[in-house]
Amino acid sequence: MEKRAERTDPVTEVRRWVIPGESRAYVLTFGCQQNEADSERLLGLALSMGYGRADTPEEAELILVNTCAIREHAELKALSIIGGFKHVKEKNPRVIIGVCGCMAAEPHRVEDLKRRYPYVTFTLEPAKIGSLPAIVAAAIRTKKRSFLLPDAPTVVPKIDEGLPVERLSRHKAWVSIMYGCNNYCTYCIVPYVRGRERSRASGEVICEIEGLAASGVREITLLGQNVNSYRSDCDFAGLVKRIGEIPGDFRLRFMTSHPKDVSDDLIACFPDTPHLAPHFHLPLQSGSDRILAKMNRHYDAPRYLSIVDRLRARDPEITLTSDVIVGFPGETEEDFQATLDLLDRVRFDQVYSFIYSPRRGTPAAEYPDQIPPDVSRDRMRRLLDLQCGISAEKNRPLVGKTLRVLCDGPSPDGTPGIVTGRTEGGKLVHFAAPEDTAGRFVSVKIDRADAFALRGTLTE
Ligand code: SAH
Ligand code: SF4
Ligand code: F3S
Repeated sequence: MEKRAERTDPVTEVRRWVIPGESRAYVLTFGCQQNEADSERLLGLALSMGYGRADTPEEAELILVNTCAIREHAELKALSIIGGFKHVKEKNPRVIIGVCGCMAAEPHRVEDLKRRYPYVTFTLEPAKIGSLPAIVAAAIRTKKRSFLLPDAPTVVPKIDEGLPVERLSRHKAWVSIMYGCNNYCTYCIVPYVRGRERSRASGEVICEIEGLAASGVREITLLGQNVNSYRSDCDFAGLVKRIGEIPGDFRLRFMTSHPKDVSDDLIACFPDTPHLAPHFHLPLQSGSDRILAKMNRHYDAPRYLSIVDRLRARDPEITLTSDVIVGFPGETEEDFQATLDLLDRVRFDQVYSFIYSPRRGTPAAEYPDQIPPDVSRDRMRRLLDLQCGISAEKNRPLVGKTLRVLCDGPSPDGTPGIVTGRTEGGKLVHFAAPEDTAGRFVSVKIDRADAFALRGTLTE
């Protein structure tokens, strides 16, 4: 009996194949924070199977590419990098290459990877991350490749609790509170690749956060495609309040919110709920009611504005950021102008704007009135011009103020002696400080501000 159980345990099976101290795993991540969180689980699972951590794909025996399918550009980038792994496989036949993430849940991409990328060993969709050991074990045992198609859209995948996780930051942590999406915005691939919406039990979430807070984590970001529709034995506002009762010196962020589900209770959590950072990311997508309806967003501009007004009434200093899509099928100059007018009225601190990218299988990809690329590019440029001025204007009054900043570590551009951090509102700050400031809250006096970042002086 015992022997049989041992043979069927995939982690043990892979451990027998892995060469201790030699076999290493490399995880490459594209896409959103949800994918970054998934990658920490993929790496955690790889380490549990006995692999070490590789710094480059060339030194890895297990390569996992965690892909994104949100826009065509993201897919093409991943495919081109996967193409480059052909040489890694040629040099070392032991190498196992897995394509994970959202592209691995698109039937036409799975087919393409199977036929045109013979060195790819398997695909693994996001809802099935917990099956990684079983898939790797089967690949080793059978020497066969595996390309599973996602479940039917009616299936609600089960949540894998307790997977090992290898967190990449010591002071910041992602906590997924829900998975999938039921909203079917007409442009969006996410509901097809991440499956039906499901929420983690609140007890599991609270327990994870208590552990993180006790271990000294300074920033926790709750993740979900639409955290406002979180449902367990409490709703999202209830969860935020319960997290507010957890002891520890950490700040709490969340993303993303859908305007149709933002509740009065959630708005009322600002500004006094302990830990809760004064930042709200509220994707707008368009300022035109006609386009919002075609996008299946279930709100209009007045409803959106009323959320903004109520948030600012609670906390006039709250940072507001948003996502906008430019060039959605059928977007007229008038529709686009409505978006610009709304940006002008709201005055977001930051807007992430994207040119509409048709996604196979989504309704909007079939709409006849697609916008020519040069029109979309021109609108994008005008939107960026407007928002750049607004962001600069929003940042300017911070000059001279001393703000509490969580230091993230050395500046990514490598400037010696310069570190970066984020204000409570989530704004990027560059300042001179020793590298060991990383992971600490410090006071920084702001000296300069432009549209994208602040510069300051450490005052502690
Ligand atoms: N669940 C989140 C967003 C997920 S995708 C939400 O609903 O807000 C992040 C952003 O990508 C979206 O807000 C949208 O602005 C953009 N996006 C999604 N699909 C897109 C597409 N087909 N083309 C261009 N941008 C898209
Ligand atoms: Fe996509 Fe809409 Fe779901 Fe966001 S809410 S993930 S945009 S379908
Ligand atoms: Fe991309 Fe999937 Fe996130 S499509 S944006 S990685 S949910």
